[in-house]
Amino acid sequence: MKTKIFLMLFLACSIMQAQDAATPREHINIDKSWYFAFGHPSDSKKDFNNGTAYFSYLAKAGYGDGVTTPKFDNRSWRKLDLPHDWAVEQPFDEKGSLSHGFKAIGYNFPDASIGWYRKNITVPASDLGKRITLAFDGVFRNSIVWVNGHYLGLEPSGYLGFEYDISAYINYGGDNTIVVRADAMMEEGWFYEGAGIYRHVWLNKTHNLHVATNGTFVTNTVNGNSATLNIEATVNNDGLKAENFTVTQTILDASGKTVATKTTGKVNLASMKNELLTTNVTIQNPVLWDIENPYLYTLKTTIVQDNKTVDSYITTFGIRTIRFDANEGFFLNGKHVKIKGTNNHQDHAGVGSALPDDLQYYRIRQLKAFGSNAYRCSHNPPTPELLDACDRLGMLVIDEHRLMGITQTHLNDVKRLIDRDRNHPSIISWSVGNEEWGIENKVEGARIATTMQAYVKSLDTTRPVTAAFSGRIGSQGITTVMELLGINYIVNKSTDEQHKLFPNQSLWGTEEGSTNATRGAYFRDDTKHIIPAYDKAPNSNFISIEDGWKHYASRPYLGGMFIWTGFDYRGEPTPYGWPSITSYFGMVDLCGFPKDDTWYLKSWWANETVLHLLPHWNWQGKEGQPIEVWAYSNCDEVELFLNKKSLGKKAMQANSHLQWEVNYAPGTLEAVGYKNGKKVLTDKAQTTKGAETIKVSSDKNKITANGSSLAMITVDVKDRNGLHVPTADNEITFSIKGPGKIIGVGNGNPTSLEKDRFIETIEVAAIEGLKEKIVQSLDGNTNEVTANYNDASWDAAFKDDRTEEFGKKAPVVLYRGTFTLPQWQKGATINFFSNNVGVEETIYINGTAIATKLKESKEFVIDQSLVHAGKNTIAIVATPLLKKRPWDIVNSNPGLFQIVTPAPAWKRKLFNGLAQVIVQSTGEVGDIILTATSGSLKAGSVTVKAGQ
Ligand code: GAL
Repeated sequence: MKTKIFLMLFLACSIMQAQDAATPREHINIDKSWYFAFGHPSDSKKDFNNGTAYFSYLAKAGYGDGVTTPKFDNRSWRKLDLPHDWAVEQPFDEKGSLSHGFKAIGYNFPDASIGWYRKNITVPASDLGKRITLAFDGVFRNSIVWVNGHYLGLEPSGYLGFEYDISAYINYGGDNTIVVRADAMMEEGWFYEGAGIYRHVWLNKTHNLHVATNGTFVTNTVNGNSATLNIEATVNNDGLKAENFTVTQTILDASGKTVATKTTGKVNLASMKNELLTTNVTIQNPVLWDIENPYLYTLKTTIVQDNKTVDSYITTFGIRTIRFDANEGFFLNGKHVKIKGTNNHQDHAGVGSALPDDLQYYRIRQLKAFGSNAYRCSHNPPTPELLDACDRLGMLVIDEHRLMGITQTHLNDVKRLIDRDRNHPSIISWSVGNEEWGIENKVEGARIATTMQAYVKSLDTTRPVTAAFSGRIGSQGITTVMELLGINYIVNKSTDEQHKLFPNQSLWGTEEGSTNATRGAYFRDDTKHIIPAYDKAPNSNFISIEDGWKHYASRPYLGGMFIWTGFDYRGEPTPYGWPSITSYFGMVDLCGFPKDDTWYLKSWWANETVLHLLPHWNWQGKEGQPIEVWAYSNCDEVELFLNKKSLGKKAMQANSHLQWEVNYAPGTLEAVGYKNGKKVLTDKAQTTKGAETIKVSSDKNKITANGSSLAMITVDVKDRNGLHVPTADNEITFSIKGPGKIIGVGNGNPTSLEKDRFIETIEVAAIEGLKEKIVQSLDGNTNEVTANYNDASWDAAFKDDRTEEFGKKAPVVLYRGTFTLPQWQKGATINFFSNNVGVEETIYINGTAIATKLKESKEFVIDQSLVHAGKNTIAIVATPLLKKRPWDIVNSNPGLFQIVTPAPAWKRKLFNGLAQVIVQSTGEVGDIILTATSGSLKAGSVTVKAGQ
């Protein structure tokens, strides 16, 4: 018991962000325990009768009907935790959209394109008088939210966060129902976007006098050994009277030590007004944020009234300077830094767009591992945790708005993005758009870009505005107006020409590469959609990564480049279509397993000595045939040996690679790297034997037992000598013990149509054809309740209004109906959620009583010997519910049957030797053991500790 209480306390603390306990401010994560079911875009019955009432939720405040009313019965829905992407759970289908990775959602799949979420929360009575908001970090898309039947709003964007004030709608001291409808029929992008509430949801509580959400903005100037911070804070008075208060701004260093503090004079703020307060503080010897040492400070903004702190708001920020120079490129803290970036979508193997926070860190680390220092959020606002990961790990960011335009629709979205993200030191530029083909080369494009750029400047003067341009260099369009022009692909335009035309404009490569490669594959096979992983231009419209980098590296005026892409993603399976479901563009695959290109980049982007040989050396059947052998290295010279015989030493040119043609003979291919004539590194590719043992390894030995942290598990197979088998494709089955669960599997194979997630299946059977007969007593009626009783002459149920008059003539009503069960699998559970249709009721399933004189709704696990696949009978003998007032509605739905088929065992094939399993803490402390088995191979397992 004690441990349970401790655990609950621990959980309660861990889900609230560090706040000042003295103030009412709370930031409570409410990701756990939501109910989910599919709705429908056009069949209102399947959409749970939402908006079908005479007065809809748009007609009258608080008139949410059907599924949005608090009393709606969602017990038969699937229970899940957020973040949740239902798209990734769907099967693949050729009729699905190529952009969304052929997942079976969208216009051709109306039954799987509308998602409903419901959740109940309790709000204590003591919260009355506080400002309470419900905040969503992002829902894909067109979301509508209701609380207690009150319509809160519609958010079209699938990427922006939004927040609703629900203070007035709350049932204080009781239950509150949140209902969300997400509509993923239409795509916003042309890449995988997921579906549903795929980011966090928060309940925020504050005093009526409080710092506005995203209401602070810290900027800095650095002069020698000191930094001056300009601090803006917007205070809202949402109360009914004017308030007097002071605001104190306290700066804490990374160890929590106060390094500066300043208090404003008394402020008087009228009811329902807000005020922007600006102040300056100076810090001596600041530690600057940079890529190697991403040092973060904290700003604590407190509002004090009559010596009492009524609000305390935390802002994390960094002190750093950035500068783009049209001739010299980019400078961070006065130091020249060449941008070595990648573009990325929010999509990962196994989980799709529902990335737990830890996964953001894993992904950024995978990119940093090959020396990348910059990340472009292509082509949409990211989740805040991605930016936190970039702040904490030292990764520069282009934060990108979705769609170009200058109406309030577009500019408001720009403002929301900037207000939310402006304190992240990692962000070095705001991007207002990408490849807007309809306007980028036209005068309209120039006008739109000019306005957007000026608008961004009105919000933040500290970062340059960019837009990614894909057209040709010309005399009109966005190329003529951007202060920092993003070049997408140099193949059709000359950066030198643009630089000459606009010598004061900064330039960088917002997209370069777009090369295609299958991880671990070295021979092309178009019938199997396999593209060799040598860095070669896919066609004349693109160039190789190497050629791209050579261009950017050799021109000081170019800030650097962003490769298309860092990670593979679902959708855009260029140059193929079905059944390829992911892109081939990544430097790493969908799991984050490196393709060979990463060693090219590491050679010229990172500060370490690199030598990497490709391909692997398992070419049985190709004996004597020529194999292209490449070495990626930053050594001065590399010598290649096959079975100890030298095949020659070659000198490496900067930003290049070396290659040989080698006639295949099994054995060992070895490269030796020399620097200043000295042997510094070797790399080997060895011919292996067949797979014998499964090896399972985790990126961490220990994770936090907080219900969200992750261990990223890699699975591969070894031969009898312990060598990794690079061609293995064994199907591996996983089992897990202890306080962890598997949340996704993948292997980086662009053509794999295997499941990403193995989840329970829920089917629902409604009671149909309900009939009734008036009887005298709850007992007896033996014949009438049997399965095969002929009730043809009975009336349709609830034909008569349930008035007192009806009660007088009908002491007891016997209802009969049918429900049709699908053929269920062994291990399935059949549940019945009764909804009482009587003050007291006795329920019979196919003639057997499952409850006698029941007085309330209940959940039953049905004994499976009582039912069969196909039509079954339910009989309910009930003392009728009667109306107290004429407008009362008497329940006429006796309940629902639910068939739950447990998730099958998680499994995945290896792809070119590798698979990934994502394991998440369930919240408890203990040892998580993941075991992998496959036929006659020796099983493997790994233990990960879940601890404090
Ligand atoms: C670019 C576009 C990217 C992606 C890429 C594929 O034109 O901006 O989003 O589609 O092409 O090559």
